[in-house]
Amino acid sequence: MPLTDKFGRPITDLRISVTDKCNFRCVYCRSADPENHKADHELLSWPELDRLSRILLGLGIQKVRITGGEPLVRPGVEDFIARLKSLGVRDLSMTTNGHLLADHCDRLVAAGMDRINISLDSLDPAKFEKITRTHSFSKVMAGIDRAQASALRPVKVNAVLVRGLNDDEVEAFAEFARERDLIMRFIEFMPLDADRHWTRDLVVPAAEIQRRIEARWKLEPLPHDRSETARKFRFAGGRGQIGLIASVTQPFCGFCSRIRITADGKLRTCLFSKDDHDLRYMVRNGHTDQDIAGYIREVVNDKEEGHRINEPDFVPPSRTMVFIGG
Ligand code: GTP
Ligand code: 5AD
Ligand code: SF4
Repeated sequence: MPLTDKFGRPITDLRISVTDKCNFRCVYCRSADPENHKADHELLSWPELDRLSRILLGLGIQKVRITGGEPLVRPGVEDFIARLKSLGVRDLSMTTNGHLLADHCDRLVAAGMDRINISLDSLDPAKFEKITRTHSFSKVMAGIDRAQASALRPVKVNAVLVRGLNDDEVEAFAEFARERDLIMRFIEFMPLDADRHWTRDLVVPAAEIQRRIEARWKLEPLPHDRSETARKFRFAGGRGQIGLIASVTQPFCGFCSRIRITADGKLRTCLFSKDDHDLRYMVRNGHTDQDIAGYIREVVNDKEEGHRINEPDFVPPSRTMVFIGG
């Protein structure tokens, strides 16, 4: 029986974080101050990740996304991808900040990865530096070029919009999608940042983004799976697509099909979970595959109905984004 929760949602998508380290310090995610990253022995080893992946695939997982931190900073990630593919993952992808992508792209393709999502929060190098606190603009652009020239399809580019920071670039990003013939996605800022600077005023609603783009170009809605994060559009008569990820203003939790494994081996049933569930303990303390599968079923059954960002009693989750994996 495939994994299902008590609300009847089939759970078919797994996001595996392979590291909590990142070579960027994006303001909407991390702090400028040092954070407490896990020691190496606290992270799941590759064999432990192989085992958990196999168990989860046996429970009906079909889509796997590799995340971080920044997944490309962990040596061995391509080999892990190759093993996942040989286990029969139908849709295997990664979310990356793009810094190391140009160097890794060929190996990712050779490993069997199907597609990729790349973060790019500004088209202005100076602003990009301010947001990511790096000097990596040209590296990321080179990563996008390389991905587009490779067999990875589709290439999606993600921008988290923050009011007053990069919301003046909506039209420029749309133009970028058209020129480069790629999928440009606008993400609403969620309260998952390390500095807890999130306020509702900083969220740029997807409806506003759509209005602004439609003032310039005619958009045609595209069909999308209800469990997908983005509402999708193409430009009438033009190349490229737009995705609107309205996590805050139009939550899509009702059709959520996602669970996550953190780099230190905790199962999270929601981005906004207050607790995680310790699979690492089970893996390291003699539990059988059957025990672990049974525990996963139990935990998934209790998956949260949704996030409560819009409720007056909202409490930010136990982990910030870099420790969950996006
Ligand atoms: P696709 O399968 O390519 O559609 O990927 P995706 O949109 O699930 O993955 P990606 O890592 O590119 O996610 C883009 C953004 O969507 C993330 O950065 C989050 O802001 C948001 N997001 C992803 N998954 C969830 C989720 O389960 N809940 C909420 N609220 N937001 C999510
Ligand atoms: N709100 C929304 N998306 C976020 N991401 C990181 N922090 C946040 C946040 N506070 C996104 C990144 C990337 C993915 C890993 O998570 O932009 O697309
Ligand atoms: Fe799923 Fe939680 Fe994200 Fe809602 S916030 S879509 S329930 S992971």
